[in-house]
Amino acid sequence: MAMQAPKGTEDLIGAKSLAWERMQETAREVFGRYGYEFMSTPLFENTEVFVRGIGEATDVVGKEMFHVLSNDSFAKVASGLRLDAAHDFSLRPEGTAGVVRAAMEHNLATPDGPVAKLMYAGPMFRAERPQKGRLRQFHQIGAECLGAPEPTADAEMIIMLLRFFEAMGVDMAHTRLLINSMGDDACRPAYRDAVRDYIHAHASELCDECNRRAETNPLRAFDCKNEACHEVMEGAPKISDALCDDCREHYAAVKRYLDLAGVSYEEDPRLVRGLDYYTRTVFEVQVTEGLGSQNAIGGGGRYDKLMESMGGKHVPGIGFALGYERTLLAMEAAGVELSGGSVCDVYVAVVDAATCGDAAFSIVRELRDAGVRAEQDHQGRSLKSQFKQAGKMGAATVIVVGPDELAAGTVTIRDMETREERAVAVDEVVVALG
Ligand code: HAM
Repeated sequence: MAMQAPKGTEDLIGAKSLAWERMQETAREVFGRYGYEFMSTPLFENTEVFVRGIGEATDVVGKEMFHVLSNDSFAKVASGLRLDAAHDFSLRPEGTAGVVRAAMEHNLATPDGPVAKLMYAGPMFRAERPQKGRLRQFHQIGAECLGAPEPTADAEMIIMLLRFFEAMGVDMAHTRLLINSMGDDACRPAYRDAVRDYIHAHASELCDECNRRAETNPLRAFDCKNEACHEVMEGAPKISDALCDDCREHYAAVKRYLDLAGVSYEEDPRLVRGLDYYTRTVFEVQVTEGLGSQNAIGGGGRYDKLMESMGGKHVPGIGFALGYERTLLAMEAAGVELSGGSVCDVYVAVVDAATCGDAAFSIVRELRDAGVRAEQDHQGRSLKSQFKQAGKMGAATVIVVGPDELAAGTVTIRDMETREERAVAVDEVVVALG
């Protein structure tokens, strides 16, 4: 059988590649207005970064990580030996843990230092069951704001995410913004216990997974895809009733700032998100039509304890990540044109390669050196096919290099739209078109 890309991965070609590029450019432009600087972290990290960062009891870490083995490590694992932490690597399932690891390693954010605003873009890896909008290698663009505990930072983050989707042409009328507060160390433990007790009291009505989660991560039961569990969990205690005064005030302030900015949102007390590091504000942007159950195009929240849980100092943080593939689906649903567009400004065609090839080669080189996207034939095509190719590539201008004109020291420049032609001296082509 012919070789194929692994299930749950995609080649980004043509319009898809262009869309990924455009999303990154748009993110740099939009996030740049808010002071974000671009950074990259490795595609794989010591597994510990994700275990301590995201949480062992999460699906992402417990079930969906891809481990990275060197040949030596592979042999060890195959013979039943355990890897020591220094040789235990995993592909990153998300960006936040790696960014916080890097921020600690390079002192980018300290308890008394200024706010660090960091953005990133790249592939993430989760061993999920592939389906529409759910891949094993997908792409995220993310932003992390470190050192800002105030609710203005939460509102700014949410507004920035919405502005990005608007700039990409997502139909915002068919999206909803969900927000919630997950509380903090002062109020969440008691709430978790209350949810755990609720699960125990309804054990026979809930699936095995939810019952298991009662002990490890009871709040995840709110996210169970099982409809029956969903209904039972509707009756569970709500975090909004369990917030301590500080969390309640913080959450109220976030909402006030969103109101001030004219942002509409829906409060969803069952929005718990799949990663353990969240405290207080969490949010998600969902598409209301066309994406089925994989409808979250972006999401994030506050993680005031993450750096400490990874062995660092107390530096609060908030961030989000948006999914490229799902955003693309949302853009397609909104009818956004993603065609490849022009890849060439000037196509230099030859009437006869034997007599005109050298001149054409030099003109193309000079045009490119002057910053023009220039192209020529490399396949010995006829003049007619060269014109066809120029059209396909979206060239606005074709230069025809013919033996008679060359003898007179000129070439013909043709405007592909108006079909007007003019003769230009060979050594003035770059001036004429540059
Ligand atoms: P997340 O909600 O797990 O959050 O992922 C963010 C976005 O990535 C989702 O809304 C979705 O669009 C996309 N995504 C996630 N998994 C897949 C998948 N298997 N296939 C396609 N797209 C997917 C995070 O990753 C957090 N790090 C966000 C964050 C940053 N929180 C604070 N800072």
